[in-house]
Amino acid sequence: MGRVAMVTGGTRGIGRAIVERLKADGFKVAAGYAGNEEAARACCDELGVMIVRGNVGEFEDCQRAVAEVEAELGPVDVLINNAGITRDAMLHKMTPQQWNEVIFVNLASIFNMSRQVIDGMRERGYGRIINISSINGQKGQMGQTNYSAAKAGVIGFTKALAQETANKGITVNAVAPGYIDTEMVQAVPQAVMDKIVGGIPVGRLGKAEEIAACVAFLAREDASFITGACLTVNGGQYMAA
Ligand code: CAA
Repeated sequence: MGRVAMVTGGTRGIGRAIVERLKADGFKVAAGYAGNEEAARACCDELGVMIVRGNVGEFEDCQRAVAEVEAELGPVDVLINNAGITRDAMLHKMTPQQWNEVIFVNLASIFNMSRQVIDGMRERGYGRIINISSINGQKGQMGQTNYSAAKAGVIGFTKALAQETANKGITVNAVAPGYIDTEMVQAVPQAVMDKIVGGIPVGRLGKAEEIAACVAFLAREDASFITGACLTVNGGQYMAA
C-alpha cells in the first residue's frame, strides 16, 4: 500500500503536477484547494485523487482538512506545502491587505499545516515535509516584498524544523522554483516577462513537471540523508549556494 501524501494548492499549477507525479509514483494523494471548484473537480476526475477544500492561512481549517484526509486515506506521511499566492506591488503602493494575505497564505500556512501532521510523523518515526519556496525568496524581487519575505521565511522554517526532526526519521526540505509556466507567472505583465525570460540562461520558463520531479525525489524513502536542504530549480537564473 502506498504512503499518503497531501499537497496543498494541489489542483492547479505546480501543485497539480506534483499530485500527478506522486500518484504515478504510487502514493495515495490528497490535493488541497482554496476555492476553485472547477479546477478541483477536474483534478479529482482526471487524476483520481481525493480533493479537500480549505484555507491554509487558517489553523482550524487546516486541522479539519487534515483530519478529513486522514479519515479517508490514513495518516499523512508526506506533506507538500505548495499553496501560494502573489499580490505584487511596489512597497510604496502595497496595502496592509496585500502584505497580510501573502504572509498568511504563503508562510503561516507552513506552520498551520506542518503542525497538524508532526505529532503523527514523530510517533511513527517517518515523514517527509517539502516546502515550496521561490527564487524570489532567495534573491528578492522588486514588487514582491511580501512574497520574497514569505518565501525566505519558508527556507528558515525548513532548516529549523529539519533540525528538530532529524533523529525522528523525518526530513524537511525546500524546493525553490524559478519562473515556471503557470497561471501565476502568466499574470506578470508581458514587457516584464520578456525581461525575466531574457535573464534565464536555459532560455525559457520552467515546466511544472520539472518541479514535480524534484519534489518526488525528496519524497522518496531513500532520500533519507537529505534534510534542511533547499533545492534550487530555476534554469540558472540565480545560482544560490
Ligand atoms: N524584472 C525586471 N524588471 C521588472 C520586474 C521584474 N520582475 N518587475 C518590474 N520591472 C520593471 C518594469 O519593467 C518597469 O521598468 P521600466 O520603468 O524600465 O519600464 C519598472 O520595473 C516598473 O514596473 P511597472 O511599470 O510595471 O510598475 P508598476 O508599479 O505598475 O508595477 C510591479 C510594478 C507590480 C512590480 C509589476 O511590474 C509586476 O507585477 N512585476 C512583476 C514582478 C514579478 O516578477 N513577480 C513575480 C510573479 S511570479 C512568482 O512570484 C512566482 C515565483 O515564485 C517566481
